[in-house]
Amino acid sequence: MNHQKIRADLVDYGNKLFFNSAGASLVPRSVTEKIIEYLHREERLGGYTVAEQQATELDQFYTQAAELIGCEKHNIAFAHSASSAFMQAISSIPLYAKDVIVTSEVDYTSNFLQFLSLHKKRGVITKIIRSLPNGDLDLDHFQQLINQYPVKLVAVTHIPTNSGMVQDVAKVGEICANENLIFLLDSCQSIGQMDVNLKNIKCDFLTATGRKFLRGPRGTGFLYVSDRILNQGYAPLLLDGGNATWTGNDTYQLADTAERFGSWEKPYAMVAGLTEALRYLNDIGIQNIEKQNGKIMRRLRNNLAAIPSVTCYDLGTETSNILTFRKNGKTQEEINRIFSKHQVYYGISQKHQGQIDFGNKGIAWVVRLSPHYFNTLKEMDRIAEIIETI
Ligand SMILES: Cc1ncc(COP(=O)(O)O)c(C=O)c1O
Repeated sequence: MNHQKIRADLVDYGNKLFFNSAGASLVPRSVTEKIIEYLHREERLGGYTVAEQQATELDQFYTQAAELIGCEKHNIAFAHSASSAFMQAISSIPLYAKDVIVTSEVDYTSNFLQFLSLHKKRGVITKIIRSLPNGDLDLDHFQQLINQYPVKLVAVTHIPTNSGMVQDVAKVGEICANENLIFLLDSCQSIGQMDVNLKNIKCDFLTATGRKFLRGPRGTGFLYVSDRILNQGYAPLLLDGGNATWTGNDTYQLADTAERFGSWEKPYAMVAGLTEALRYLNDIGIQNIEKQNGKIMRRLRNNLAAIPSVTCYDLGTETSNILTFRKNGKTQEEINRIFSKHQVYYGISQKHQGQIDFGNKGIAWVVRLSPHYFNTLKEMDRIAEIIETI
């Protein structure tokens, strides 16, 4: 990994300490350039002509996303966000009163809101896999839920928004495959920071967003859809002209590819930007990124473990590049004052972003630090020094 080049690709980084890739990361310079170049073309020629002229380049979006997660390009659909991808996927599954969705305690807010809405509107029930005392998924309990209830969907988040733990979704996928259950994986926080590969994780749907660890533009994401879902004719509840063709007064034909779950209209300049972000990441290599991320994160976790007044809240056997902590008695305002003074970019996760997990931990918020491979070991030391002064 050419760290010098990677740093040079950050625009006006200066003295800031950017620790918010789990929120919205910094895009490499070339991503912005692609977007602006595309917009200038549209300005001169109009969007339809440019999309035709750039068809080969735009098609690279599918190739690059497929390369990253180890699938074919026909399994990828563009999405405006991870949540919209999730909604398209979930809407394709016939869910009625008393049908059961199984999820985990740390699943994402918007996922839970969808489950609750399905309960309110249709009587669909959500069952939650218990966590073990160390935070890992209780897979025996998962099996019990499957044995006991009419499970129609398993939806589990790989890495939650409000803690750095990594859930064992490979095991979940294995169990789902054995039980012939549909598995929807939320990889929003894992994609781009670690190797998320369908050769190791069996799932039917995978949702991703562009702006976080993939370092793409806001308003972008993608959805992976397995061949078995496509071949069985699953489709979103409501369709548009990108999902299907209107073949006669009363008939339509679904698109063959995962774009059946996409949308006809797309922000093509942003698609070009996301394609560049994916290409940038694939060129570095996700395994190299994961390795570098492990290195900086070990340093950060060790540094914070050495400060007695700091409590870290990341449970689980495996942790990621999200670190959550609080400092004894310090308020969000006190932390913000010091972090702002030192130009630290960070996040705060609030209880409404993880009711169950925060409830279990008995707290209402945590500070979230999420460095990425462009950060340095020196920055891991500097942030710890700053946290000591809070
Ligand atoms: C774990 C997880 N899933 C899903 C999402 C939703 O992503 P988006 O805002 O792109 O819909 C987020 C966003 O923070 C997230 O952290």
